[in-house]
Amino acid sequence: MNLFEALEQAYQTAQTALEDAKDAGTLETWYADTLGRKGVITLQVRSVGQLPAEDRPAFGKRVNEIKQALEAAYTAQAQVVKTAELARALEAGAIDVTLPGRPATPGHLHLTTQTLRQIYSIFGRMGFEVYEAPDVELESYNFDLLNIPEYHPARDMWDTFWVQQVRNSPARLLLRTHTSPGQVRAMRERANTGRSAPEPIRVILPGKCYRYEQITARSEHQFYQVEGLAVGKNITMTDLIGTLTQFTSMFYGSGHKMRVRSSYFPFTEPSIEADMSCILCGGKGCRVCKYTGWLEIAGAGMVHPVVLKNGGYDPDEWSGFAFGTGVERPAMLKYSVNDIRYFYGNDLRFLRQF
Ligand code: DAH
Repeated sequence: MNLFEALEQAYQTAQTALEDAKDAGTLETWYADTLGRKGVITLQVRSVGQLPAEDRPAFGKRVNEIKQALEAAYTAQAQVVKTAELARALEAGAIDVTLPGRPATPGHLHLTTQTLRQIYSIFGRMGFEVYEAPDVELESYNFDLLNIPEYHPARDMWDTFWVQQVRNSPARLLLRTHTSPGQVRAMRERANTGRSAPEPIRVILPGKCYRYEQITARSEHQFYQVEGLAVGKNITMTDLIGTLTQFTSMFYGSGHKMRVRSSYFPFTEPSIEADMSCILCGGKGCRVCKYTGWLEIAGAGMVHPVVLKNGGYDPDEWSGFAFGTGVERPAMLKYSVNDIRYFYGNDLRFLRQF
């Protein structure tokens, strides 16, 4: 038998074997044995060297034709096998096409967002609008304009993340350590409306704050605050206490006692701290309130005359109150969360509970 006849015979054998391949496994073996790297047809090419030179082109051409024909036949047979296997699987009930699809699981709002929205809604009903100020703030707004000069010991109260300085600019940038700088931004905007007189203000300023601090169960280096600011004519401490009392009963439910203590903040005068009776023990004393019966809810006070002036409001004519409160801690109290680190740990087992 010459090499041409041997080639045709190998072709015949391969065709018959392909027709007999009725499952994916056999088909794969056939491909490896026939057209694979060491397959019989592939190896035929090597025998070309044994032929006289004038027969070689014809032999090579024929091998290529056979290869192409077998490739096409293989593809067709693979399709037949696939269809047959699918039909067999359907018959055996392996695929139940009547099963409903997997439901898409929609996400939901983060506990912090839910809490913020509750706060917006409560203050919204009292006539406060939401005013947003930048996270990356100028040092002057975060400190100086709030009556906290460079040498003031109160600067020690906030350990700060500084942001690389803008080239050729003397202004220093930082991540705001509190939402209070928004007070001056809101005032400057409303004091310079282009109309003849500054406008009264009633805003809350929510936002993330950043402090270069140790992370513990009670404190994160990123957290939310909501600042409140009201500026008008004849605004008094009574308005402030009334607003905070109203907020507390709407947020935590009525029946909680409120008290104010005198305090100190450079941007308010006088300054107070507002507490409410512990929502867990009702004032008897427990671990959450550190056995005092009271929980701190806000720092607050009457806007300092210097700050009013920095905002463009004449302190002889205008007065105002301001307060600052957290967001995660009230949420922790309300929903009995015992570790602030859960908020931004991105653990779905926590997030899905709210
Ligand atoms: N900025 C203060 C802080 O981060 C909180 C605060 C206290 C805000 C008194 C105020 C205020 O508006 O009047 O600790």
